[in-house]
Formats: sequence, structure tokens, C-alpha cells
Amino acid sequence: MLSLLRLASFVVACLLLAGTSTNALKIISVNNGEVQGIWGKLEVCPDGSAAIGYQTQNDQLDVPLHDKTALNSIRLFCNDTQGTNITSTLGDTGIWELRLNCPAGEALSSFRLRVEPYDSANSDNTAVNSIQFNCTDGSLLNYNGNTAGIWGEFSADQCETGICGLETLVQPLGGSLTDNTAVNDVVFICC
Ligand SMILES: *[C@@H]1O[C@H](CO)[C@@H](O)[C@H](O)[C@H]1NC(C)=O
Ligand SMILES: *[C@@H]1O[C@H](CO)[C@@H](O)[C@H](O)[C@H]1NC(C)=O
Ligand SMILES: *[C@@H]1O[C@H](CO)[C@@H](O)[C@H](O)[C@H]1NC(C)=O
Repeated sequence: MLSLLRLASFVVACLLLAGTSTNALKIISVNNGEVQGIWGKLEVCPDGSAAIGYQTQNDQLDVPLHDKTALNSIRLFCNDTQGTNITSTLGDTGIWELRLNCPAGEALSSFRLRVEPYDSANSDNTAVNSIQFNCTDGSLLNYNGNTAGIWGEFSADQCETGICGLETLVQPLGGSLTDNTAVNDVVFICC
């Protein structure tokens, strides 16, 4: 999960931003992520904005000798006037897929992951294959992404006022002898 040091510095930053209010940091997660890689930097939308859409980068190449990695990156779009996007750690391969948006006035609120569980007998594991989000009005955003593995449960908690940040667990490229899997897990921070 989040390193304690980074979590502590994020909480301090939140308290500074929030002045005297005591907003608790709320993190939403799922329980079917995988464990390889390094947790990236927590990135958050500019103050006062929320994540209203997303797109993913998927490795769709399926040819002999290619080390499949499936989901490589997740990009969230904030609704500040600049249209800031946030990604935490990016993967290295694949094609950026369609951007999907919540209905007007709504934001991303909960998510689930499609994951191929790690199997030591499989020489080409892929970990996370796809992600779906629910918006604050309950509508579903779904881009098919990669299709190995199975869908887990939606995050038990949801962000009632929207998702505002993310942190990804990504296995970095390790050379031709490594079975790379790119995204292994992700957590989101509520506004
Ligand atoms: C995401 O933001 C970066 C700047 O941080 C920008 O260069 C890039 O074009 C943006 N990507 C999209 C898809 O909006
Ligand atoms: C961004 O979206 C959130 C959630 O829908 C909303 O509360 C907020 O007012 C919006 N902010 C801007 C700058 O449009
Ligand atoms: C998310 O969307 C799915 C599919 O439409 C729906 O079954 C589920 O109830 C929604 N969850 C929430 C928390 O809105």
C-alpha cells in the first residue's frame, strides 16, 4: 500500500490545504490486485477539481515470443479549467485507448479490476488486464481493454464526491528474461 512516509506527507498537505477542517483521507481499493512492482507517486487533481473521465494504455500485441503485459497505464482527467490529467507510474508499452467520461456533473466514484492471477507455471503472466469505473450517479464506464483473467468485486468503498487521485503498482521492464506484467494494482484517493 502507500508508503507511510508518503502517506504522512500527503495527509499533512491535505491538512494545510483544508485549513482548519479535519477531512480524513479516504482511499478506495480492491482485493484482487497482484503484488509485483513498485508503488508509484501519488498524483492528485488540482484543488477543487475531481476526476471525471479516464483512458487506459493496453498492450494488445499477441504474437509469438512477445511478452504480453496487458494493462500498462491509467490516466485520469480532472475537471479543472486546464483539463489536467494524472497517471502515477506509467507502463512502457501499448496503445492509448478511447477516453471515457462520466455524465455531465458526475465524477468517477468506484472501480473494479480484471486480473489474471499470478501462476508460476505460466511463463507469460499479465496481472491487471482491464479496469471499470462507476460514476457518482451509478453509471458504468467500461472500455474492454485486455481480456485475460476475471473481474473482481467493485471496491467496497466508493468516493461519494468523486475520485481525486491515484497511485499505481507497476512492474518495470526487467529485460528479455523477465516476465513483465506492468500494472499489478491501483488505489484511488477520494476528494
Ligand atoms: C496529459 O497532460 C500532459 C501534461 O502534463 C500533456 O502533455 C498531455 O497532452 C496530456 N494528455 C492528454 C491525453 O490530455
Ligand atoms: C468537478 O466535478 C465535481 C464532481 O462532479 C464537482 O463537484 C465540481 O464542482 C467540478 N469542478 C469544476 C471546476 O467543474
Ligand atoms: C456500478 O455499476 C454496476 C454495473 O452497472 C452496477 O451493477 C453497480 O451497482 C454499480 N455500483 C455502484 C456502487 O453504483
